[in-house]
Amino acid sequence: MTTSTTPQLDLSKFPRRALLEGPTPIQHLPRLSAHLGGANVFVKRDDLNGLGGGGNKLRKLEFLIGEALASGADTIITVGARQSNHARLTAAAAARVGLECELVLTRAVPRDDPDYVDNGNILLDALFDAHVHDLPGSANALQFAEDRASELRAQGRRVYVCPLGGSSPVGCLGYADCAAEIVGQAKVDGISFDRIVVPNGSGGMHAGLVAGLVAMGRDPSLVSAFTVYGKAEQARSTTLDKANQTAQLINATLRVDSSAISIDEAQLGAGYGIPTDGMRAAVRLMASTEGLLLDPVYGGKAFAGLVENATAGHYRAGQNILFVMTGGLPGLFAYRSEF
Ligand SMILES: Cc1ncc(COP(=O)(O)O)c(C=O)c1O
Repeated sequence: MTTSTTPQLDLSKFPRRALLEGPTPIQHLPRLSAHLGGANVFVKRDDLNGLGGGGNKLRKLEFLIGEALASGADTIITVGARQSNHARLTAAAAARVGLECELVLTRAVPRDDPDYVDNGNILLDALFDAHVHDLPGSANALQFAEDRASELRAQGRRVYVCPLGGSSPVGCLGYADCAAEIVGQAKVDGISFDRIVVPNGSGGMHAGLVAGLVAMGRDPSLVSAFTVYGKAEQARSTTLDKANQTAQLINATLRVDSSAISIDEAQLGAGYGIPTDGMRAAVRLMASTEGLLLDPVYGGKAFAGLVENATAGHYRAGQNILFVMTGGLPGLFAYRSEF
């Protein structure tokens, strides 16, 4: 089965390698909604994609791996923090399609307990047979990756370098496609979503959703994000740039207005990968009311923002709020001591 693309968004000109099993379900969360006492909360289950433990990055990787294979690559290199979900899924996708994979991982998050250093995603990276470069937090991972690519190219290898979070415009196409999937599912189910809530890390998921909505002539300000990586201003400008670049890949005449990008910094806490009380409470709430698992770095913080907004009465009774569940379950094991 292939992923659904509504007729309004034609991405068929882009090379693509299927890694998903099909559209991910949208589910209503009745107990959680009743607990919050107002809006109807729904989840888009992007955590359910099967390959490599699942997660949102597989959508981007369909296009990134597609481009890598079309360029004749035999090796893929990407970058991230030590517990990067994107790195883990790049390694899994590379294993699936028969590419060599190197991961340039930095100690950017100030944690050195054995769970963080050796469990979770990093354990899986090894199982997928990726070659991990372990760099200090201060290192320029992308520069290291480019230098390593040059070294390998000099040995005759053909190398594809994939940026942080897989958030090149080509990678973001995966979430433009997801926007089409959501629009199609909402139509079939007869639901109108008042808001789509997402975490914003490298910004690619947010940018792709916005680009997809713009390309379909829909309101992109439907998407509201909680930044978990950088300050709001920085995240806003990065996301706007990526959304414009992605929209223009789809159709050179498209433009994304800055008013389309809504980013809230309230859940960032002390910084990327650093737990907050709100995140811990949100992970427990989702698990104990609905039996669903959020990750501690992305979904946990963004969902904390949704809970805080609902509690503060920012969503009206009867509104339909769609939260994109992005996976990252291995991160819970890396952050065991927080729970
Ligand atoms: C589980 C999870 N959720 C959300 C995100 C955020 O996506 P993006 O980097 O496209 O903003 C990531 C990125 O690594 C992730 O791993």
